[in-house]
Amino acid sequence: MTRAELITMARHNMAHTKAGTIDQEPEVLRVPGHHYYDPERWQRELDRVFKRMPLMLGLSTEFAAPGDFKSMDVVGVPLFIVRHVDGDLRAYINSCSHRGAQVVTETRGNAKRFSCPYHAWTYDHDGDLVAIYREGDFGSIDKSCKGLTALPVVERANLVWVTLDPMSTLDIDTFLCGYDELLANFGFGSWQVFDTRTIDGPNWKIAYDGYMDLYHLSTLHKATIGTNMSSQALYYAWGPHQRVVSPDPSLLEYESKPESEWSTAHMMASVWTIFPHVSIAGFGGGGRSAMISQLFPGETPLESRTVQNYVMQELPATDEAKEQAVEQFKLLEYVVREEDYATGLRQQRALMSRPNAEVIFGRNEGGGHRFHGFVERLLQTEDADLPSLFTK
Ligand code: FES
Ligand SMILES: [Fe+2]
Repeated sequence: MTRAELITMARHNMAHTKAGTIDQEPEVLRVPGHHYYDPERWQRELDRVFKRMPLMLGLSTEFAAPGDFKSMDVVGVPLFIVRHVDGDLRAYINSCSHRGAQVVTETRGNAKRFSCPYHAWTYDHDGDLVAIYREGDFGSIDKSCKGLTALPVVERANLVWVTLDPMSTLDIDTFLCGYDELLANFGFGSWQVFDTRTIDGPNWKIAYDGYMDLYHLSTLHKATIGTNMSSQALYYAWGPHQRVVSPDPSLLEYESKPESEWSTAHMMASVWTIFPHVSIAGFGGGGRSAMISQLFPGETPLESRTVQNYVMQELPATDEAKEQAVEQFKLLEYVVREEDYATGLRQQRALMSRPNAEVIFGRNEGGGHRFHGFVERLLQTEDADLPSLFTK
């Protein structure tokens, strides 16, 4: 089924490539500059976007064996994810039911049980409180209602989504709008994480705008990756999730071939964003490697943190191939840190210095239109009405 969607997109791309056109929005979009730095608005975005939307917080391969866990802090919420012996994942707020201490203090590991470092109350994979240190001294409490607080978690397309609101009624599959079925074409289940880095950046929306923007490739990145890149973009949306790809002349080879011979990997090229904070960029001749970037708001409106995961279909087998991969990923880190984010950090200071500044998205920048429109709608939408926002 998703192959049919890929073929439809490829045909749409080919038609635009031949005509030398792109899709255009009806009008340009104007976003008030202060939407990028106003502290009250930023807090509202954390509360209404990051604390209510499912967030893509990991790859299934990070939790290969039962007991494999990862802990992290996401917009101030400490949590951990663990592979249960039943094969599914669980996610919990990382806070002990005794006095609230963080139970898991390692960022990664493998454990059958989790013992709080403060007074050694101990929990199992189900989050159940299974042991109280010196229970006779402590006094009697009902352990069965003192488990860890579970968070909604699902695995789709070998990626892991967690919702930070334990009471969320937004079904994660509803939120995904079928987009995960497209992402499954990467086949991340058999891929490996080659390297991971963290990069500090500007306001999360300034940073995220860049991931949906091909308009800047041949200008800002002209000295690095942009030499032969198109600045034109075509956007495809599944709810708030968007794929962006340039009109691609290399697809025209399929005009004379039956659809059964069209390469899925070729049709998956370019950037797949996952609202509100992830970008997957495929590289290496049909998706043999990819950079999965997870972007998180930082401590203030003017800061963000991006985890870059460099994943490969197969880890390099020779020193030479390894060196090539190291160089490719070094370049991608440089491009994001020294070109995208360095520009973004200067951009936000400049925006703040100009009263009534507006940020403009052209008719060619449909990704920004959809993204900012969706953030705006989320800010206005009460919890009970959230599911109605997610239709393709
Ligand atoms: S706070 Fe965890 S055991 Fe006391
Ligand atoms: Fe860029």
